[in-house]
Amino acid sequence: MIDNDLQFGFAGLDDVPRVAALIERAYRGPEAATGWTNEAALLTGPRSSPAEIESLIRAPDSRFVTAVDGDRLVGCALLQRTADGAYFGMFAIDPGEQGSGLGKAMIARCEATARELWGARSMHLTVISLRDKLIGWYERRGFARTGRRPFPFDRATGALRTDFDLIVLEKPP
Ligand SMILES: CC(C)(COP(=O)(O)OP(=O)(O)OC[C@H]1O[C@@H](n2cnc3c(N)ncnc32)[C@H](O)[C@@H]1OP(=O)(O)O)[C@@H](O)C(=O)NCCC(=O)NCCS
Repeated sequence: MIDNDLQFGFAGLDDVPRVAALIERAYRGPEAATGWTNEAALLTGPRSSPAEIESLIRAPDSRFVTAVDGDRLVGCALLQRTADGAYFGMFAIDPGEQGSGLGKAMIARCEATARELWGARSMHLTVISLRDKLIGWYERRGFARTGRRPFPFDRATGALRTDFDLIVLEKPP
């Protein structure tokens, strides 16, 4: 439960361990499986790594937006500048806080941030094609399907099945 006023901000290098830990907890493994949507039944390997998070925090055209409740990190998402907009990814809400509106607040904040930082006119993301509930969630937020991409099975570890690809979802300007 959120106890304090939620504070949005950007992750710094000190935040690398807790951002990396939150992403792992929310996406895969037994704790993720307690949330209403996750990848636990599809992939078992790590979703990211502290080294990857650190390089993304250091990169000039990317930011991790954070949601902090008191001193507790309860949400994070990656924004990366693209030619005409922004890519949104690594979106994670603490499994114990999911389903109470935090994700909706977080994505709205990320859209506003991409506009403020880079003048983004659109935001896109990719979702595993089997994740119907999550795709519906983005569609209810105004995102539309604009394409498909292969899933990077060569880079992902611990795939439990391989009969999926990625759906590209984009919010029109
Ligand atoms: C996806 C995620 C970021 C969403 O955050 P959240 O805080 O859970 O989302 P919210 O509470 O803001 O969303 C509430 C919505 O979810 C829906 N929802 C809640 N429980 C649900 C369930 N069991 N089945 C289907 N929809 C459900 C609600 O109906 C509500 O939708 P609506 O307002 O459009 O009617 C979060 O669940 C998460 O971290 N998941 C694991 C990591 C992940 O999958 N990231 C996204 C990768 S692209």
